[in-house]
Amino acid sequence: MDKFVIRGGNPLLGTVRISGAKNAALPAMAAALLTDEPVILENIPQVRDIETTRELLAAMGAEVELGYGRAQHRTTICCRNLASPEASYELVKTMRASTLVLGPLIARCGRARVSLPGGCAIGARPIDLHIKGLERLGAKIVQEHGYVEASVERLRGAEIVFDKITVTGTEDLLMAATLTEGETIMQNCAREPEVADLACLLNKMGANIEGAGTATIRVKGVSKLHGAKHRIIPDRIEAATFIAAGALTDGDLNVCGCDPSHLDALLQKLQEVGVKTKHTSDSVRVEGNGALKAADVITEEYPGFPTDLQAQYMALATQAEGTSIVTENIFENRFMHALEMVRMGANIKIEGRRAIVRGKTQLSGAAVLASDLRASASLVLAALVAEGETIIDRVYHIDRGYENIEEKLRAVGAQIRRIGEILPRKK
Ligand code: UD1
Repeated sequence: MDKFVIRGGNPLLGTVRISGAKNAALPAMAAALLTDEPVILENIPQVRDIETTRELLAAMGAEVELGYGRAQHRTTICCRNLASPEASYELVKTMRASTLVLGPLIARCGRARVSLPGGCAIGARPIDLHIKGLERLGAKIVQEHGYVEASVERLRGAEIVFDKITVTGTEDLLMAATLTEGETIMQNCAREPEVADLACLLNKMGANIEGAGTATIRVKGVSKLHGAKHRIIPDRIEAATFIAAGALTDGDLNVCGCDPSHLDALLQKLQEVGVKTKHTSDSVRVEGNGALKAADVITEEYPGFPTDLQAQYMALATQAEGTSIVTENIFENRFMHALEMVRMGANIKIEGRRAIVRGKTQLSGAAVLASDLRASASLVLAALVAEGETIIDRVYHIDRGYENIEEKLRAVGAQIRRIGEILPRKK
């Protein structure tokens, strides 16, 4: 298992380029299941979750070509011959977003067998809303032996009101609804930019979708979708992580190739904290000024402050003067990083869904454990301002969603290196 060794104290200076959004690329790859023609996706990030999705689709009989060299961020997926509409436990357990294949498989093949994802490090994360929605569209669903088995002659359009806002739930149902008979109206939908990006791809494939990116989405079903070419939007969470890193290290960082209009919640919060940012249409420049002020944060669905940035914000809060209250509203168990930051000297108390962060504290390097994707990113941020050396274990979590993070950080002045585990020699 790889580890990161980080020596803190360097300001981040220069330019960093943001990759395509993992959370937009995953549903886009699943959308290729809806047609027998090739779907070409550009700006695909080179991260582990993409490779897992390739394996998932290939196991069903899809031809998935991941580009190399100049075409390295492009993938062509052709689902002409689907052998088995099944997602096995082996793959689903490593990536919950695998459940995104459920909707497209039922819509295209009339049946699907997808493993239930089970619990995960940040909470229970059931998929009951995906299942309820598909039943509204007419699918017959049984849950047996840890699998969801779904079948239908043809899906019918229906009204779906989500009990709770769910991102992949909205995406799963949106994909299924494209091939129904009649119209589907979905309410209380997730408004994340990744949902809108998926709808943009589906419309290029011949779907008839209106309102994606708002709470109400209307889909007029069509009988067939065709191939298309689409460029994935930039990763707003990666961009935000680097912006936070620039602010934290008192650097001067130009985060380019991003979409600042997706970053409003963070940019407003940074203003409150006392960090100056300037943006163009596709870049954000962050200049640290040494003095951060405490500010509370509450995670919410988009356009609110993202839960996927809560951990990174907490690293920032440890360096702000005063008390910041960080409230996690989306997942029930997403404070694992706080305990690791405490081991680095942070003053953080957890009270249910609230973390009370008292700053400013001088962090000191320590051996810490990454527990999930965004938690790992927050430990990298904490390590960048800690005195001495931090060793972060289980960085495979970060490899799931950040492309070459250590190279990108090193290029702007961070002292970070990756080491592989040295196994004891056999006698
Ligand atoms: C997506 C993102 C993830 C992000 C999360 C919240 C992807 C691949 N992942 O995850 O990075 O942290 O949105 O912004 O896009 N819920 C139910 N029943 C369901 C579905 C969800 O109760 O059927 C609950 C969840 O347990 C959670 C909340 O709804 O408490 C939101 O989860 P959801 O938006 O579905 O998260 P994901 O789509 O899995």
